[in-house]
Amino acid sequence: MRLLIYGSQIYARLLCEQVRAVGHELVGYIDDFNSGGQVLGSYERVRQEYPPDSYGLVIGIGYKYFDERWAIYQRATGDGYVCPSLVHPEAYVATTATLLPGSVVMARAIIDHRVTAGELSVIWPGANVSHDSVVGRNTFVSPGAVLCGRVEVGHSVFVGAGAIIADNVRVGSNRFIRAGEVVGPKSQPSVRVTRPSGK
Ligand SMILES: CC(C)(COP(=O)(O)OP(=O)(O)OC[C@H]1O[C@@H](n2cnc3c(N)ncnc32)[C@H](O)[C@@H]1OP(=O)(O)O)[C@@H](O)C(=O)NCCC(=O)NCCS
Repeated sequence: MRLLIYGSQIYARLLCEQVRAVGHELVGYIDDFNSGGQVLGSYERVRQEYPPDSYGLVIGIGYKYFDERWAIYQRATGDGYVCPSLVHPEAYVATTATLLPGSVVMARAIIDHRVTAGELSVIWPGANVSHDSVVGRNTFVSPGAVLCGRVEVGHSVFVGAGAIIADNVRVGSNRFIRAGEVVGPKSQPSVRVTRPSGK
């Protein structure tokens, strides 16, 4: 599939490698603020020249801009762009797992039986999402984090590197779980601080 990446900064460049590893063709980047390199132009311009019936889209905006990521995803899919799920060939995804559109599963991540990874969720390298867990839409699971069995994480949550969420625990939406934090039945993580919009 010929893919555009929305965004052109650090996370977008990382996704470029993922797009190639999966076997898609990267056409270029969309950026409403920056130009140069492989940036094709702003979304409005690119939409005219690279229409949704011929190109797919990947959201390359990182976890500092949760709300913008989701808004852009909704707009682009509303315009007709398909956002494929990107699973790195070195990830393990159980055949019973469900990966919704726009989800990204990076190298050496484990997505176990009957897991659901929501739209636009990102499972970073080495993260382990154990059986029957649900990762909400637009949620980031950082490197080495572990979601034990039957965990449910809401939408737009940041799960820090190496964090552990114990079995059967439900985490609300818009939460920030620190690196190495252990989340049990009695500990709801802090609310994620929303950052101002920016480039
Ligand atoms: C590493 C860490 C434990 C350091 O904590 P600390 O030294 O006590 O510092 P703070 O609690 O002031 O937090 C520092 C950063 O954490 C993030 N952070 C902490 N609490 C947050 C919250 N409730 N909502 C959003 N971001 C938060 C912010 O990025 C903050 O950076 P800022 O100062 O630019 O806003 C903590 O910041 C953390 O867990 N960060 C995530 C690291 C990670 O998992 N990275 C993986 C990326 S793939």
